[in-house]
Order: sequence, then C-alpha cells, then structure tokens
Amino acid sequence: MSTTFKLDTSTSRANPTPQPMKRLTVPKIRAHKADGETKDPLVMLTAYTARQAQLLDAHCDLLLVGDSLGQVIYGLPSTIPVTLDMMANHAAAVVRGSYHSVVVVDMPFGSYEGSKEQAFESASRLLKESGAAAVKLEGGEQMAETVSFLNQRGIPVMGHVGLTPQAVNVLGGYMARGRDGAEAEKIVGDAKALDEAGAFAIVLEGVLEPIAIEATKAVSCPTIGIGASAQCDGQVLVTEDMLGMFERVPRFVKKYENIAEVIEKTVAQYAEEVRARSFPTADQTYQPKKG
Ligand code: KIV
Repeated sequence: MSTTFKLDTSTSRANPTPQPMKRLTVPKIRAHKADGETKDPLVMLTAYTARQAQLLDAHCDLLLVGDSLGQVIYGLPSTIPVTLDMMANHAAAVVRGSYHSVVVVDMPFGSYEGSKEQAFESASRLLKESGAAAVKLEGGEQMAETVSFLNQRGIPVMGHVGLTPQAVNVLGGYMARGRDGAEAEKIVGDAKALDEAGAFAIVLEGVLEPIAIEATKAVSCPTIGIGASAQCDGQVLVTEDMLGMFERVPRFVKKYENIAEVIEKTVAQYAEEVRARSFPTADQTYQPKKG
C-alpha cells in the first residue's frame, strides 16, 4: 500500500496517510533476538533526508543516518571529513520524515575515539539536536568501555566491526576482512566485547561469511550484515547503492533498480521540452480569469 504525505504547515511535518505504526524502540529491536534466534530479520537502510525517510520508513525497522553521506551526499572521498554538524542536521531531517523506524546516527571520525567523555559529549549532542534514538560507532574491543559508558548514561549504541571505513588509512582500502585466522578471531572477539559492553546491535561489514555466522552465534544482540551473510540477524545497505544511483558499487550490493537511468531519461526529456518551448503548457501556466 502506498503512503501519501500532507504537509502540516504549523509543525512542518508531513503527515502520512494511512498513519503508520507507532515508532519502534531500541529494546524492541534488541528483543528481536531471543535465546540466540531471530525469527524476523531486521531491515535497516541508510537515510539522509526527510523525503527519503518518508519513503523508507514503513518498510524498515531501523533507519541509519550513516556517515556514508560524506561520499553519497557531499561527494567527499571518504567518511573521514564528515563532521558532527553534518550528522546532526541530516539526522534531524530523517527523524522529521519518519514515524515508525528507530533512527540511528553515525558518530563521525574524530568525535568519539579520544575518550569516553568525548564520546558522551558528541553522542549527547547528536541525540539532543536530532531526536534520534541511538548512535553507531566503529571499532571493537577498544571501544567496549565507551559503549558501556554511553549505555549507562542513557545512550544506546550500535557497534560496527569488520570492515570499518573510518579506519581506511590503517586498513589500506575497503577489501573484505578476516582472510587470515588471527584477523578472523579478532573480528569475532570484537563483536563479543561490544555485546558484553551492552551494544544493542552490531553491524558486521565486509567479512568472510563463516566469520559473520560465527560472530552472529557468539553474541546475544542482533547482528546486522552488509557484505556478510544472510545468516545475520538483519541486513543493511546504502539506499542509493541498492536503488542504482551509482554505476560502481561494492560487490555485496544488489541493485534492485536503476534510478540513475530513470533520472537521466527524465531530465533529458525536460531539457528537450524546454528547448522546444513545449514546456510549460496550458496545464502548468496561470491565465487571467475570463470576464
Ligand atoms: O555509513 C554507513 O552507511 C554505514 C553502513 C554502510 C553500515 O555505516
């Protein structure tokens, strides 16, 4: 069923018809996995704008305001230059555009690694300014103390291990992780450390499938895979990648559409009609009242 939106000018919110379900909560997401089993895999997609959030919301459990917006929205070469201001602004837009999904916002590089106090300052600012329910941060065992510190102070944390794009300069690229035994063991150990520290879910990105399966079995909270395994407790993709906005996408992306082609065709038609003076027509112009 498609949803329509009517703008309420007093609140600037676009009210959806039909009214979607009540917003999910972090404990409900965490409870998807019980006794090591997840019956309904969690659906997460990235969202960066209010309109995008409106379109995704009813179909998702979680909307991730990912720092991938650095490349996707701002044309930056990596996620490294992304700032807290960017994350807070886009997260606020996504919260305004959604009613149902839990909104999770990425902590950008440099905003949390220095100390747990720095992490609290940055995370609390993100939640206060955006209305999002949780933050995500990259890193395993070394971030466990921070995850526990935030969680105890009212900030739910989603972890992110395996291929961690903010560490691109250390990793040397975006290739799949866990190809040697020691690294595989470390990824599973990182997931366990975050789980014990109280992470409510953990993203497993770009890891060999057996590692994703082992980590999923080893932790009590849900794992959310991206380039990992269908055996994870949920999946996430960058929305623009799965819609086909970009020609080149990582191997783990399934392109469900070719939106770039639709946009190019549509814009070419508009340009042709403008140049031929066949747009606008009587339907799109205002005429003086007769009589
Ligand atoms: O920034 C992002 O979009 C992410 C997902 C790819 C998990 O972290």
